[in-house]
Amino acid sequence: MREEPHPVTPDEITAAARKSFDGAPDRRLRFLLQQLVDHLHAYVREVGLTRDEWEAAVGFLTDTGRTCTGSRQEFILLSDTLGLSMLVDALQHPVPPGATESTVLGPFHVEGSPLRPMWSSTVEKEGSGEPALVTGTVRGTEGRPVEGALVDVWQNAANQLYAVQDPGQPPENLRGVFKTGADGAFAFWSVRPVDYRIPDDGPVGKMLAATGRHPWRPAHLHVMVSAPGYRTVATHLFDATSAHLDDDAVFGVKPSLVVDFVPHGPEEPGAPEGWNGTWYSVERDVVLVPADD
Ligand code: BEZ
Ligand code: FE
Repeated sequence: MREEPHPVTPDEITAAARKSFDGAPDRRLRFLLQQLVDHLHAYVREVGLTRDEWEAAVGFLTDTGRTCTGSRQEFILLSDTLGLSMLVDALQHPVPPGATESTVLGPFHVEGSPLRPMWSSTVEKEGSGEPALVTGTVRGTEGRPVEGALVDVWQNAANQLYAVQDPGQPPENLRGVFKTGADGAFAFWSVRPVDYRIPDDGPVGKMLAATGRHPWRPAHLHVMVSAPGYRTVATHLFDATSAHLDDDAVFGVKPSLVVDFVPHGPEEPGAPEGWNGTWYSVERDVVLVPADD
């Protein structure tokens, strides 16, 4: 093949684009970009991408960027719905057997949730949903309870919305941080989460609609646990009765993360005061991997 300053054939164009990164001083960056050129060019060849399709793709990515704001990250949503977020996580964070598996962080986590006392409730608005008591112990894979672990939780209300999406909820509704004591135990009241749609009023929603996909996620409670000396895990507790466990729009379900919300009658001991309907309990330990493993 000619080593041309003016590449003309498809192979010359690919070779020239690849070679243009030869001088990148950072080896990893050079590798990432040359592989990107190879794979992108191979994709264009394989699918026979037309000029119109290229323009539509550029338009779609432009819209995706324009949809991002301080509180909305449409590119991460695109990554989530293409399975990319879960793939990166699976490759980066394989966990040893017995450790709690991770899943997508999602866009609704808020830094600095209030530190709440054990056994208190994250519910700040009446009508947020059916009460659920969540209990468990944070342990290391070596079996010891973890003292001083921060259990950061957030979830949606019965109207499907997280407080950050919903001006009708107090901003700290259904979120909080709980700090474990020497026994590693945590316990808090919340509500039973419900199935909900990922934000589908933007370009990602259009992509889902154009391809016959739905935007639903199975009901879940987000839990992120960090502790000195351990790897932080961002995970979910998925409701075993959800209709969308097998078709999560962002591919986040792992069998080990599915839990039972056990129903209880109002007459059962431990029922929340003043509540006359069914309430639920969920028990799930969180098992952390030591940071040096
Ligand atoms: C969530 O679980 O909050 C979420 C995750 C990925 C995309 C959208 C929402
Ligand atoms: Fe969520």
